[in-house]
Formats: sequence, structure tokens, C-alpha cells
Amino acid sequence: MTAEEDAISDKLALYNIEEIGPATEKRLREAGFRSIRDLLVRGPVDISESTGMEMDESVEICNKARIMLEDLGMIDKSFVTATSLYNKRKDSISTGSKSFDDLLGGGIETKAVTEVYGEFGTGKTQLCHTLCLMVQQPESGGGLAANAIYIDTENTFRPERLVSIAQARGFDSQKALENVIVAKAYNSAHQELIIDEAGSVIEDNNARLIIVDSAVAHYRAEFIGRATLSERQQRLNRFMHILVRIAETYKVAVVVTNQIQASPDAYFGDTVRPVGGHVLAHTSTYRIYLKRSGKNRIARMVDSPYHAEREVLFTLSDSGISDVNEAR
Ligand SMILES: Nc1ncnc2c1ncn2[C@@H]1O[C@H](COP(=O)(O)OP(=O)(O)OP(=O)(O)O)[C@@H](O)[C@H]1O
Ligand SMILES: [Mg+2]
Repeated sequence: MTAEEDAISDKLALYNIEEIGPATEKRLREAGFRSIRDLLVRGPVDISESTGMEMDESVEICNKARIMLEDLGMIDKSFVTATSLYNKRKDSISTGSKSFDDLLGGGIETKAVTEVYGEFGTGKTQLCHTLCLMVQQPESGGGLAANAIYIDTENTFRPERLVSIAQARGFDSQKALENVIVAKAYNSAHQELIIDEAGSVIEDNNARLIIVDSAVAHYRAEFIGRATLSERQQRLNRFMHILVRIAETYKVAVVVTNQIQASPDAYFGDTVRPVGGHVLAHTSTYRIYLKRSGKNRIARMVDSPYHAEREVLFTLSDSGISDVNEAR
């Protein structure tokens, strides 16, 4: 750590909040809270539930955490002008395809959650792999010169695929592998534990991209039938909200993949829709639908606060996601 990083991590230490004495700090640490940022990411209900602290006290602690981060300039102030938001540069990561990047207005944005859904084999996992390499590139190469965290719930992460995409693109494949931190999640509870601890992993590894491939698979497999639906949605909701706050607090891009289900009640348009119901619809900033078009693939921007609903063509090739005319 550099002296500057040391100074920042001192300022982010839990004990800087006066309500947090040694006993509370110990309980917070045991529950996975390492820094002031974790307090904000997990929120007051979580703080109270995991430490037994009174709710008003945890709300107070959370508010103080927010103010401290605002003062350190690490998050936006509660009230800012639209101009200052407009002028803030948006960091983004190239998908590997120009047309796909165009659809997104440059690439996958940081400080946002992008959901990618589509049928099997439409390229969701290929996109995740490609992004893990693109984020490592310098800005001139479409990246953020940073690293990636890959949360794999479907056991489809393949280091070999990273190597082949890296080679096709002329990147140093050994270095590329070193810069992707992989966490295999064996069940939904494990997936939640991983995300609760993600904050320190992001800090320690200079990560600007978090992949969750997929967000819903475990929930879908474990909570079967109507009776468990509300618990499933509650847990998924908490998981997604933590991702949203991680994206904002750590300025990382979050990409989650999602499966689709047939929607028998849809008489118009596509008869498929993403799994996860309203929870995912409300928590993701951008939703992208991938579908087949012969050998190629179509990406459609389905839901975005400012992009028009539009489609582009891309393809899957040795270099991962690429433009149709450039496929290698
Ligand atoms: N080296 C390669 N060159 C070209 N295409 C490839 C290559 N490797 C994989 N693919 C394509 O990627 C497809 C698999 O895509 P991917 O694994 O991303 O699907 P997915 O959307 O994640 O599906 P699922 O819902 O099953 O997870 C294969 O069908 C194949 O067409
Ligand atoms: Mg997949």
C-alpha cells in the first residue's frame, strides 16, 4: 500500500465513528464489516440484525458513514446540481464490439447495475468473460486499467476461455488471468456471503468490475413453489440492493446475468421474460436482452433511464464478443 492508500484506509476505519466502541467494532468485524463503506453498502437493517444493535443507533451510524464518505469526496453529496452530475465523466468498459458499445452509449457503465438476460447459448457468459479482459485494458483500449471479480454460480467460468480470448486479442494471457478474482458460489446463502465480503476484495484488488453469472440460478433452484416465493423475492431483493450500493460506493460496474422463462400470458411481442420478477426489473439500471439471429446475436436495450429501445447485431468468436464484420 502506498502512504496515500494507507491514509485513506485509516480514514475509512470503523472506529472513526464515535458510536462505534471496541465491542461494537468487534461485532461488526465478525459480521464482515471492515470499513465505513461496508456500513453504507449493507445498510441499517443489516447492521442492526447482524450485531443486535438498536435500529435507531444503526441508522445513526449509517448516516454518519454517508456523511464521512461525502466529505472525503468518495460519494456524491445528497444534493447536487444536475450540471455537476452531467459533467461528471462516466467511466465505461468496452464489450469488445463497437456496435454493442454504441447501444450502451460507450460501454458497460460503472456505478450502475447492468442486467443481461437471454436464452441459453446467447452469449451471456461469453460477454462476462470478455468484459473481464476488457476492463484490464488502458482507457485507450476500452478499459479502466483495473481488475475484475467474477462470482460464478453456474460453474461456467472457464480460465481456458479467458486465455483463448486474450490470445485472440493479443493480450498477455498470464497477466490477464492474474487480474480476475473468481468466487464460486455453491448456494444462495454462499452467494450472499460472498457479496457481503466483496467490499474488501474490491479495495484490495483494485477491481472496477463485478460479474454475477447468474444472479438468480440458485434462488430459482432452491425456492420452488408458490409458498417460498415471497422469501425468495426478499432474499433476491436484498442481494440486488447490496449490488446497487456496491456499484455506487465503490464506483464499479456490476453485470448480472439472468435466465428467461416462457411467459404464456404475453400475447404481443416476445413470449419470454427475465426471471426474478419485479426485483430485478427495479434494481438494474440497464437491462439488455440477447437473442439469436442465425449465427449472430442481437442485443436489445430493453430498459434504460435514457437510452432508446434499440437493437444491434454482434457475434461470438474466438475473441469473445465482437462485431460481425470483424469476427476472428
Ligand atoms: N471460441 C468460440 N468461438 C465462437 N463461438 C463460441 C466460442 N466459444 C463459445 N462460443 C459460442 O458461445 C455460445 C455459448 O454462449 P454462452 O455460454 O455465453 O451462453 P449463455 O448465454 O451464457 O447460456 P446459458 O444460459 O446456458 O448460461 C456457444 O453456443 C457458442 O456458439
Ligand atoms: Mg451462461
